[in-house]
Amino acid sequence: MIYKSTEENIRKAALSILEGGLVAFPTETVYGLGGNALDPKAVASIFEAKKRPSFDPLITHIADLEKLDELADIKDPRIYELAEKFWPGALTLIVPKKDLIPSLVTSGLPTMAIRMPDHPIALSLIRQSSGAVAAPSANSFGYLSPTEARHVEEDLGARISMVLEGGPCRVGVESTVLDLTARQPIILRPGGLTREEIESVLGPVDLFNRTTSSPTAPGQLAMHYSPRKPLYIVDDLGDIPHKESAAALIFQDISRAEGFAHSEVLSLSGSTLEAASRLFSALHSLDQQDIRCIYAEKIPEEGLGRAVMDRVFKASKK
Ligand code: TXA
Ligand code: MG
Repeated sequence: MIYKSTEENIRKAALSILEGGLVAFPTETVYGLGGNALDPKAVASIFEAKKRPSFDPLITHIADLEKLDELADIKDPRIYELAEKFWPGALTLIVPKKDLIPSLVTSGLPTMAIRMPDHPIALSLIRQSSGAVAAPSANSFGYLSPTEARHVEEDLGARISMVLEGGPCRVGVESTVLDLTARQPIILRPGGLTREEIESVLGPVDLFNRTTSSPTAPGQLAMHYSPRKPLYIVDDLGDIPHKESAAALIFQDISRAEGFAHSEVLSLSGSTLEAASRLFSALHSLDQQDIRCIYAEKIPEEGLGRAVMDRVFKASKK
């Protein structure tokens, strides 16, 4: 059920997490499905609720910087620099974990993913519960990520008791996952914080190449974030046969919608930031239409456009 995020309901949700329960909550990126990261049983129930394979590790969410040293074994000073500059925010750091973090959270890896979300409801929930909340995106494994409370309720409502309402997520794509444990810093998943912003602190960083590399982190699986209707990426939406039974995902130019049964325009002004914030709700809404398939045009791969194209690529039929 969806609950208004009153102080009382946040407290109730925090108690539920402390008792081993799961709560869906808003962050600035997407809604998360949270459980106590220090409780292996709670963590196991996250995997179960999402039907997520246990080889795909979770992000631990914190609300206070002190927790970073409590949970992780930080030797690299650049981690503090990045955390101070970009937290709370859409940056997930891969760092060596301490024993306190159950190995189920990290799928047996010696490293953990950690971030501080930029959302008052999330921060309050984390602080009032265990201070370390493991949370993947609150969708069933492989399906579109939720950017509104009702997306969570429609997908997982039968399996979780509480969804905290936070309105539409501001950023709209998941956090950027940055791995500094490799020799050269590498972005494993492009996301809400741009490569340019990270490079302003670190200098050049690598970007995991989705088309040429094999996955080293499970979130890099090529099929992910998929609508139920097949989605195809096309160079030109004008060329499509049988538009009358298809939907179009358009970046900017609304005239491209002509002939399609349904369409969504991501940003009339051509902003990749706005496109990111609207992407998942546009896909959720097209997926609910009575159509054969979805055609998506490409989005300029600059700024947040990289994260948007990454999600569209993963949503597509290869
Ligand atoms: O914005 C977000 O990051 C959202 C909100 C709820 O915070 N969470 C999210 O979680 O997207 P999830 O579980 O859907 O994605 C976590 C990603 C996966 O791609 C996973 O493979 C990667 O983080 N990951 C987790 N631990 C890792 C590790 N130790 N090494 C490499 N990648 C890791
Ligand atoms: Mg996810």
